[in-house]
Amino acid sequence: MNPDWSRSASNEPGGSRVANLSTAVWLDRIAAISSGSAGNNAMGLRDHLDEAVRQDAANGSAPLTIQVVVYDLPNRDCSALASNGELKIAQNGLARYKAEFIDVIAGIMADPKYSNLRIVTIIEPDSLPNLITNVNAFAACQEAQSSGAYVQGVQYALNKLHAIRNVYTYVDAAHHAWLGWDNNFSPMVNLFHQMATGTTAGVNSIDGFIVNTANFSATIEPHFTINTMVNGQSVRQSKWVDWNWYVDEQSFAVGLRNALVAKGFPNTLGMLIDTSRNGWGGSARPTAASTSTNVDTFVNQSRIDRRIHAGNWCNQSGAGLGERPTAAPAAGLDAYVWIKPPGESDGSSSQIPNDEGKGFDRMCDPTYTGNSLNGNNMSGALSGAPVSGHWFSAQFQQLMQNAYPPLS
Ligand code: BGC
Repeated sequence: MNPDWSRSASNEPGGSRVANLSTAVWLDRIAAISSGSAGNNAMGLRDHLDEAVRQDAANGSAPLTIQVVVYDLPNRDCSALASNGELKIAQNGLARYKAEFIDVIAGIMADPKYSNLRIVTIIEPDSLPNLITNVNAFAACQEAQSSGAYVQGVQYALNKLHAIRNVYTYVDAAHHAWLGWDNNFSPMVNLFHQMATGTTAGVNSIDGFIVNTANFSATIEPHFTINTMVNGQSVRQSKWVDWNWYVDEQSFAVGLRNALVAKGFPNTLGMLIDTSRNGWGGSARPTAASTSTNVDTFVNQSRIDRRIHAGNWCNQSGAGLGERPTAAPAAGLDAYVWIKPPGESDGSSSQIPNDEGKGFDRMCDPTYTGNSLNGNNMSGALSGAPVSGHWFSAQFQQLMQNAYPPLS
């Protein structure tokens, strides 16, 4: 349990119902290692690990797991603006990432006083997936690829973190509505494999992969699968599914795992799904499959994911807390985890000056009418949001309201 997040949650009316759940610690800039992260987060990495040791001692014999997101690659968030960071490739960012970020984190995690903890690291959300789909459209991604900075940065992180016996590494693998098409999926599997084989321990430097980090895709769509036919038409033909091979995160996680193992990763590979905000409960949640014989109507009336478009990613209106953190929920899955701390914004809904390198991404603006990445749809974002990582009370209230399973 992260005391920083827990305090924010329990300060909210009704928040004590979830405030004791495990959420990840985000190391989202160099300063976060020593002094805590943005907004109301105050604790540094040592504070968190010391607290984990304390909680471990108070909680009996089961090993305690702490989850830490490693998130400061140079040119971070290269296809968007809301989570741009402090390091730039052109300004010696990769060398600084290694020396001032990864080395310091690894040095702390290797401290023998933390050796009884299980330290789970979530490595660089969105980074390698951006190399698959966004190099042509975004100069910052192009630079991340041509310089080798993303791959080398992730390899460096894996080398340092995997070398610590009680640190477990999970590399970010985006989500089904990013990588679920053949022309993204296969290159991603190849890049993961090529990247891993370039680390000291090779494919063994990775314990698993995580999907849906900070996203809103449903874990399981209960009312249809990718094989569902509607009046002779596959749901793949619907506008919503749009020829994707997956309709939800659990099927995607298992499909990706199978492909990675076939490619040469060990069969011990375990998948995580970030379920912090993909519950989609509340009054808008469909309770049964649609009876429509029109494939678009069928999918739109049946899907629990109520987003306007599956490419929408910022502070999604109508979302709810998802499955609570759960170990080994299904074959091939190590856990459902809460990585994005619910209540922390994905980005500001209008421009807000800040000293964190965060930009204003119009995908966080509720009046934005979209671009090719979300099919030119409305952004679906909530209004009144602060910059990414900062506490967003109204969003937290809605997430609790629409939790699924519901909160008691
Ligand atoms: C932000 C980080 C923050 C994280 C968790 C990201 O979108 O860029 O600053 O720590 O979300 O809320």
